[in-house]
Amino acid sequence: MKLPKAGTVEVVPSILSADFGSLADEVKQVESAGVKMLHLDVMDGHFVPNLTIGPPVVASLRKHSDLFFDAHLMITEPDKYAPAFVDAGANNITFHIEVAKNPAKLVEDLHKMGVSASICVNPETPVSNIRDIAPMCDMVLVMTVRPGFGGQKFMPAAAQKIVEVRQLVGEKIRVEVDGGIDSTTTQAVVSYGADTLVAGNAIFGQKDRVKAIEAIRSAVK
Ligand code: DX5
Ligand code: ZN
Repeated sequence: MKLPKAGTVEVVPSILSADFGSLADEVKQVESAGVKMLHLDVMDGHFVPNLTIGPPVVASLRKHSDLFFDAHLMITEPDKYAPAFVDAGANNITFHIEVAKNPAKLVEDLHKMGVSASICVNPETPVSNIRDIAPMCDMVLVMTVRPGFGGQKFMPAAAQKIVEVRQLVGEKIRVEVDGGIDSTTTQAVVSYGADTLVAGNAIFGQKDRVKAIEAIRSAVK
């Protein structure tokens, strides 16, 4: 399964704020809104102060959904664990520049495994740190909160880095944004150049998930 081509705005639900006891059903609900991608937040209690899911949950969910799985690895050893997430059914691996041992090799290995690769920068990390690696990737993720928890407040200063990232990668690479995205913050990030909008709390924190997705989409226009 391929990453949707750059140039369209995609809303990407993050299951972090979903009901983990009914994940398959939660995913069906957002599928019915016509999303193409699903964001899976992986945390190791080390790179970030929280724990979430590992490959077994990805593999279980894979049986229930044909969506493009965007796995966001907030873990200290992405080089070591990325292949396990690919085997479990992830279609894209996003890893952090702050901890990757050999980012260029990891991107190369992911491409060899037939999945796309995305590099991520935390709010404090300058875009200059990904100058070499970003053009090799299929997507760049700009964090607009400190990673670790859903439902945090959007950081406008971090979002401004999107402009710099877009200048760096041109139009063919997706620019994803993650953290505090809702119908009030969408317009700014899209105007800066983001086209891939992760939203957790703004979707799964609402009773009607389809309506919540529509609200984010209509904020783009
Ligand atoms: C935060 C995660 C996000 C999270 C976003 O560390 O990487 O993907 O789910 O959640 P919201 O949209 O609630 O800020
Ligand atoms: Zn995420």
